[in-house]
Amino acid sequence: MGQQQKQDDEQVRIAPSILSADFSKLAEEIHAIERAGADCVHVDVMDGCFVPNISIGPVVVEAVRRCTDLPLDVHLMIEAPERYIDDFIAAGASTLGVHVEASPHLHRSLQKIREAGVRACAVINPGTPAVALEPVLEEVDQVLLMSVNPGFGGQQFIHTTLPKIATLRRWIDERGLQVDLEVDGGVKVETIGDAARAGADVFVAGTAVFGTSDYKVAIDSLRRAARR
Ligand code: DX5
Ligand code: ZN
Repeated sequence: MGQQQKQDDEQVRIAPSILSADFSKLAEEIHAIERAGADCVHVDVMDGCFVPNISIGPVVVEAVRRCTDLPLDVHLMIEAPERYIDDFIAAGASTLGVHVEASPHLHRSLQKIREAGVRACAVINPGTPAVALEPVLEEVDQVLLMSVNPGFGGQQFIHTTLPKIATLRRWIDERGLQVDLEVDGGVKVETIGDAARAGADVFVAGTAVFGTSDYKVAIDSLRRAARR
């Protein structure tokens, strides 16, 4: 592998979402994405209130933590996430994401996450403008732009997210911040290139990885498509 390609690969990080994994053999599924070259494990936590679906809680996050050394990118899709920050930190989250729409005291939540030594992430839905993240850019290690309305895997990428990615990329670079720019929802070979060109560097992929029979081929194809 050439030096340039190696550098490009390091810039494209793939975060498989276990929401689309087979939960009857979750440890196996996590080991499989690890072997396939995943950069972290994306864990979707849903409460049936903020989003119309219920998934998993801290007990499962703690079990996932024991399965792998990969960083756990925990995405909280729950009302008033500040109530559960301590629990998800104790469960072993490496990055903890809270939705702007669910957090009336956003700075407080992000600061609490960082003070515990965990990477803080602020998340916005497709209908929320980029400017909602602007006041907290100094308080986060990552921003997450949803490219579907959260709640389910396997939805179509919403293309109006692209200008928001570009706006965030500009703000992050202009201010010289070390903030990862993650995109989540409908990411597949056909859409990842647009998101990468707009400036995203971390890509959540659920069905595009777990919906295939060879996770290494899937992750390699996503990386290649992001570089193109
Ligand atoms: C959506 C979740 C996503 C989802 C992505 O609510 O936050 O992480 O699992 O799944 P795909 O990649 O299938 O859109
Ligand atoms: Zn997610």
